[in-house]
Amino acid sequence: MASTMTRPETKPAPVVPRGVDPREFDGDEFRQDPFPLYKRLRDYYPAYHDLFHNRWVISRYEDVVAIFQDNERFDRAVYKPDGPYQFGTESVFGPNILEYGNGPRHRWIRNVVADQFVGNRLQAFLPVIERVAAEQIERFSRQSAQDVDAGLTAVKTINLVTQFSNQYPVRVISNMLGLPRSDEEQFVDWYQALIAGLGFGGEFFLRGMQARNDMFEYLDPLIRERAASPKEDLISRIVGAELDGERMNVDQVKGFICLLLAAGGDTTDKAISNMWYHMLYTRPDQFEDVKRDPDLWDRVFTEMMRFDPVVHTQGRHTTCEVELHGKVIPERASIILSLGAGNRDERVFKDPDTFDIYRDDLHFGRELRSGRYADGKAGHLGFGMGQHFCMGYQMARQEAVLACKMLMAAMPDSRPGFATHEGVTSPVTGSGGFRSPRELFVEFGPR
Ligand code: HEM
Repeated sequence: MASTMTRPETKPAPVVPRGVDPREFDGDEFRQDPFPLYKRLRDYYPAYHDLFHNRWVISRYEDVVAIFQDNERFDRAVYKPDGPYQFGTESVFGPNILEYGNGPRHRWIRNVVADQFVGNRLQAFLPVIERVAAEQIERFSRQSAQDVDAGLTAVKTINLVTQFSNQYPVRVISNMLGLPRSDEEQFVDWYQALIAGLGFGGEFFLRGMQARNDMFEYLDPLIRERAASPKEDLISRIVGAELDGERMNVDQVKGFICLLLAAGGDTTDKAISNMWYHMLYTRPDQFEDVKRDPDLWDRVFTEMMRFDPVVHTQGRHTTCEVELHGKVIPERASIILSLGAGNRDERVFKDPDTFDIYRDDLHFGRELRSGRYADGKAGHLGFGMGQHFCMGYQMARQEAVLACKMLMAAMPDSRPGFATHEGVTSPVTGSGGFRSPRELFVEFGPR
């Protein structure tokens, strides 16, 4: 006999947002793929009080933009500018511009060199940038041909990270600084130790401090030399800069040089690797377009800075009590602006988890410090905004795009060295600040 019973009406279970355990930030899952956690933060905890790390994490695009531009209530420095503090004595770079908050001293330090990285000054430096890129390409081309001849590999293969990205931007910035070309191998080691020391703590911090001490010692005679007879280079500008008749002391000069070497070397290297990773593995279809029209590398750069930016977080401190999304953040609280989360905000970008060099809701082309564009589109957050907006933003784009074009000309048939790849990750668990592929093997030439 057929049953006449009807099923009881079932209502869909309410969606309960999964909470956030602050230890997730320190886990391997987050190191490999932070974006699911970013989405949960944006959707349910846009001003997240992370008690475990004693900080507030801000993840929505509009909030990140507003805080970058709010100098009154958010300062970069934890210190009050007039306090009796020894700036930078315990930091990996020594005293440097990142230690300064929003005050006039920061603007002065910035202006000592900022004009060198943009406009005509940058254009004048392009031949050097091109020469350095050509030298590195020549070097790996020779090496890969030798490897094939010696039977070490069947096909020409390079590790783009170690054989190009880690070599090129640091040599560009060391040329600009006026450091001796003969010591470039040493600068390659130092900048990596400095950046790891800044970002990853523990043993990395100790190695970073060692690199800083070695570099400080190395710089002594050079600084004396430039003070006595200045040249046309950044070290001479830094040594000779004056504010109200006062010059930087020798540790401040050294700190500035260390910071520029690391900032100029590190981030652009990761940018190039991220661009190549996404072309080779994420969008091989769009890579074909880029091969046909190399000017599209400029779009690849911009979309990479949105989709998988090199720098994921920037810190700020509240200068007063601030209310945000119904939470009261106290004065002097540590704020983490999540550039990586803001860049994937579905309130701003359609289909944000798709890498697409043709998207119509992103401002392509040169970034503006104000973040406001005449085309009405949203800019990526990858260079920050406002007073501390990246000083090397034009140089990074020029360097990265130029190098990618030259790399593609040298390896027109480039393809992934391995079928699978672990992707763009943070190198160390517990630190999501910088992200790039650890290795990136590229195959080229006849098989
Ligand atoms: C793709 C490459 C790069 C990325 C992703 C990047 C990212 C950033 C970000 C996010 C900031 C903002 C810091 C803040 O708000 O507190 C910044 C500042 C800065 N960047 Fe870059 N950067 C890049 C390339 C460069 C290069 C090539 C240089 C130097 C030659 C450089 C030098 C600096 C300096 C000195 C600051 C501090 C500016 C200030 O405090 O006023 N950067 N960068």
